[in-house]
Amino acid sequence: MRRSSKPANSPAAEIAALRAELREHDRRYYLLDAPTVADAEYDRLMARLKALEEAHPELADPDSPSRRVSGGVSTDFKPVKHAAPMLSLDNAYEEAEVRAWDERVRKNLPPGQSPVYLVEPKIDGLSCALSYEDGALVRAATRGDGETGEEVTANARTIRAIPLRLPAGAPERLELRGEVYMTLADFETVNEGETRAGREPFVNPRNCAAGSLRQKDPAVTAQRRLRFLAHSYGVWQGGEPASHHEFLARCRDLGLPASRAERFTGIDAVIGYFSRFKDLEMPRLGFAVDGLVIKVDDFAQQRRLGFTARSPRWGLAFKYPAQQATSTVERVAFSVGRTGTVTPVAKVTPVFCAGVTISSVTLHNFEEIERLGLKAGDRVLIERAGEVIPKIVKVVEKGKKRTAVLPPKRCPDCGSPVVKEEGRVAYRCDNPSCPAQLRRTLEHFASRPAMDIAGLGDSAVDQLVARGLVKDAAGVYALTKEQLLGLELFADKKAENLLAQIEASKSRPLDRVLNALGIRQVGEKTAETLAERFDMDGLMDASPEDLQSVSDVGPIVAESIVSFFASQGGKDLVARLRRAGVTMPRPEKKAAAGAPFAGKTFVFTGELKSFTREEAEETVKSLGGKASGSVSSKTSYVVAGEAAGSKLRKAAGLGVTVLTEEQFKELLP
Ligand code: IVH
Repeated sequence: MRRSSKPANSPAAEIAALRAELREHDRRYYLLDAPTVADAEYDRLMARLKALEEAHPELADPDSPSRRVSGGVSTDFKPVKHAAPMLSLDNAYEEAEVRAWDERVRKNLPPGQSPVYLVEPKIDGLSCALSYEDGALVRAATRGDGETGEEVTANARTIRAIPLRLPAGAPERLELRGEVYMTLADFETVNEGETRAGREPFVNPRNCAAGSLRQKDPAVTAQRRLRFLAHSYGVWQGGEPASHHEFLARCRDLGLPASRAERFTGIDAVIGYFSRFKDLEMPRLGFAVDGLVIKVDDFAQQRRLGFTARSPRWGLAFKYPAQQATSTVERVAFSVGRTGTVTPVAKVTPVFCAGVTISSVTLHNFEEIERLGLKAGDRVLIERAGEVIPKIVKVVEKGKKRTAVLPPKRCPDCGSPVVKEEGRVAYRCDNPSCPAQLRRTLEHFASRPAMDIAGLGDSAVDQLVARGLVKDAAGVYALTKEQLLGLELFADKKAENLLAQIEASKSRPLDRVLNALGIRQVGEKTAETLAERFDMDGLMDASPEDLQSVSDVGPIVAESIVSFFASQGGKDLVARLRRAGVTMPRPEKKAAAGAPFAGKTFVFTGELKSFTREEAEETVKSLGGKASGSVSSKTSYVVAGEAAGSKLRKAAGLGVTVLTEEQFKELLP
């Protein structure tokens, strides 16, 4: 494949080449799971395409890869009637139920016919129907009640796994159905951003994907890196496939990512696969799966089996039980976030569930407490699926002595009144100088992706705030050695180290400073894009329109930035940081930006066949990437050779993409 566009001799030709190249990168990333360019290179090609399209409006194309984010506010989720009802599958949890289903299938097929079963992961996302007419994506809709869903076209267009146009040979009409979902790694990144921005983290990838698809601002959807896998269809007009495996293959030929499937001839083999899949295959997928879907492959047989009122007779969801435990809510505590949001947290009698001991479970907000009908003292069912944070599913037994959980009238930290904002679910501490808010603000300011002041951890922050030595983020720069020595934590050397780290943080690049400011809706990634376009003065003066010309910034994000810099607090903070000597330089263009592995970290584990470990690591470095010895959420890929062990398990747990040696070699130029 071409690695980058050569300048073409006409703008039309260059635009066409760039569009084709970007589509190919999307295909490689989402369909083949084998990207060949780094994000930075992709962004460079996209920027070039956007610049050319701006200079040549006559060459505009609504389906250009540059037009995924429309820039406007998305449709108002108007109702869409599905061409055929979107049914659900019957669930089975026990082997006996699966065997009984297999018998029913066999009984209903003509004598002498046996079913071939295709087995796919049951993706824990949300169903979405994509309508293509003459190859063009014209509509996307959620499942809704199965008959009528909501239109989410503008948002679905931002999902790069979804082609906006299908190649020649596509059916005249196609209503494709599949699952919109998120990888565990992307979910973790989104939640880190939510927490940093002082918002509630999402409960699990499914909720996050659902919330992201139903966003008013398509630019926010675009940032969530949603994915799509096709698993069925409502309409296929023109060359309809004859079996499910043919359908999946045709999807892939059309550039549509389709669910993976295994073929089996008897139910014993399916059941064997079910027990192997959970430990061996599921962790490698990197996204939440709650079971397997078993389907009769042949469509003629499917038609013969037909449907019950609710679900097809030709398919069954064989589900893994979620990991659950019961415990007692001893009390409900309230934690105060960076923006003052007061979150109820259930303190439960410690209980072991899915490999960890759980003693605290977030209740998210007071509506959730009401929904659960929960009071302190109740016995509750707790569920933890995969890497997802635990949640309370329901009250299983009311406590003998129960106490109602009411929103606190006063902030648990500073005693100021707690208020509920008009039209919002959250309660907030009304005091902008609340020490709890200040502590969270400082923790965020000093965190690694922001100003990276390692010595300013939670306990140092607690003491500085308790002694009143720091009153806002800029106050960090006025700290003296004498003040630090007055705190329990600091002896001579440690105080000097912290002061040196604070000094070094003054030259952090603009993107980190922007992240550190804690502007709502502006996380690490948006801060990076903004810093590429503006310097601090430019950003402070930018209009919503200027801001929206930056990719991934939509009206809501733009509004939040403008209102931050219009506020006296925002202006003062920037002025005080500047006076303290924070320079906010524009980030240097990454030296290896064009290199294929720029920004990617690889971990090699197990025995490789074609390289020594050192050779493999050198190869990665020569292509602009980093090689590391340990797996973390920052790892881009783990390359697993023979007999890979604990690192592979860690990668699976963190949702890091695992490559075989062969797949790694395919990434090499
Ligand atoms: S086939 C008649 N295949 O599970 C429905 N569904 O209860 C045929 N799902 O709403 C759907 N993974 O959103 C199918 N590999 C898969 C699936 C899958 C997840 C969802 C789907 C559906 C629900 C079924």
